[in-house]
Amino acid sequence: MNYDNGHADAAFSAFLQTYPAFETTRHLDDLRASEYARLDTQGHIYLDYTGGSLYAISQLRQHMALLSENVFGNPHSSNPTSLPITALVERARCSVLEFFNASPEEYVAIFTPNASGALKLVGESFCFGPGDHYLLTFDNHNSVNGIREFARARGAEITYVPLVLPEMRVDETQLASYFDLARPGGRNLFAYPAQSNFSGVQHPLEWIAQAQAKGWDVLLDAAAFVPTNRLDLSRWHPDFVPLSFYKMFGYPTGVGCLLARQEALAKLCRPWFAGGTITVASVQGDRHYLAQSEAAFEDGTLNYLNLPAVEIGLKHIQGIGLETIHERVRCLVGWLLDNLLALQHRNGKPLVRLYGPSNTNRRGGTLALNFYDISGQPIDHRLIEQQASRANISLRTGCFCNPGAGEMALGLSKPELVACFNQPTPHLTFDDFRLCIDGKSSGAVRISVGLVSNLADVYRFMQFAESLVDQVSVQVTA
Ligand SMILES: Cc1ncc(COP(=O)(O)O)c(C=O)c1O
Repeated sequence: MNYDNGHADAAFSAFLQTYPAFETTRHLDDLRASEYARLDTQGHIYLDYTGGSLYAISQLRQHMALLSENVFGNPHSSNPTSLPITALVERARCSVLEFFNASPEEYVAIFTPNASGALKLVGESFCFGPGDHYLLTFDNHNSVNGIREFARARGAEITYVPLVLPEMRVDETQLASYFDLARPGGRNLFAYPAQSNFSGVQHPLEWIAQAQAKGWDVLLDAAAFVPTNRLDLSRWHPDFVPLSFYKMFGYPTGVGCLLARQEALAKLCRPWFAGGTITVASVQGDRHYLAQSEAAFEDGTLNYLNLPAVEIGLKHIQGIGLETIHERVRCLVGWLLDNLLALQHRNGKPLVRLYGPSNTNRRGGTLALNFYDISGQPIDHRLIEQQASRANISLRTGCFCNPGAGEMALGLSKPELVACFNQPTPHLTFDDFRLCIDGKSSGAVRISVGLVSNLADVYRFMQFAESLVDQVSVQVTA
């Protein structure tokens, strides 16, 4: 296909023939024009929805109206400026539980600064002891990997479940034997992402019950999944679900959530107490009593002025329909995959190497890839970012805080990595690391579609990709 502007109409009709369901999502184009007009007036091609989603102008207006028309004090007092904001915080909490169809008898919603904050709460409070186990997939965000340091410090075993190329999924025939590693009667935690922030792979939610049946508490990292997929917590019952709201609806930043099963929460051991988390603490008596439920986990003053914006954001998504967003993302990703993988240099060598599933089956709207020049050498991802930025395309490069998936995708072996980390340098910079793994890519390019992506966005990306065909590699400029 030729991606110059003269061919756009033909490409659009071919797209609709292959992905007729896109028509059912058309109201998102109207919404983009009315609520997200700044994207197009400023000529942005936004392809980093996995990094963060975008907010509608009406979300800001509603939130600003609420703040400008009311006087809100610190919640959890009973004075006239505190009571209304306390009510709004509790409404936000209920709206989160409702959005995920989580029964308040089973789940609580703990507000945190972000998904990482939610993960740290689990890590620091999980009562690992010697012989217990922390099991996790290679495919995980660093904020899930980081829990291993709590596990290690308390003498627990740490086991990583590898991924299988090219799809970057787990070999499910092996999984049962990993689940058998649970220490009987011990404190065992299994963590995996519902959707990879690297490859877009959606790992099966069926693993939750399978792992629980073998004695694991299950931490399902839903940060990259929930922006474009329904997570129904009346059907699936993970023990801990961390997420960040800006990834779902762009605004507010600084607020995330840990959805936790009451039963699993009750087993945690909080290592400290803080303002707001106790019923009574005494200096001279040297004792403290933790509050019940979510209150024991919300340290200090909540981000209370931003919490009403969470309810506004959830209503915004509900108004659009999560299924509509999901369907649009599926169509756009399908078209991108079909077209990107067909690009070749004039000598027949492929332009792109994709890391992850090459069709829309059990995957989300995130694609990780590298571009190759005409001689078959990888084009440095930093160069791609520089060139894309010149075309006003926002994409992401590197390993996206998911080193396990990155190492698998890029073929970096344990001995190679250990040799790099054992160098006598006091502090390994990214450039030291790149030189150490000489000849291999040190990262990838990630593009991701979401809430208000349209066909023009992905078409413009294909134009950019096509401009790399027959290119000979050049150096990254500072
Ligand atoms: C799968 C996944 N988990 C966790 C996180 C951490 O989210 P945050 O940076 O909002 O804490 C991210 C962020 O990209 C993510 O994609």
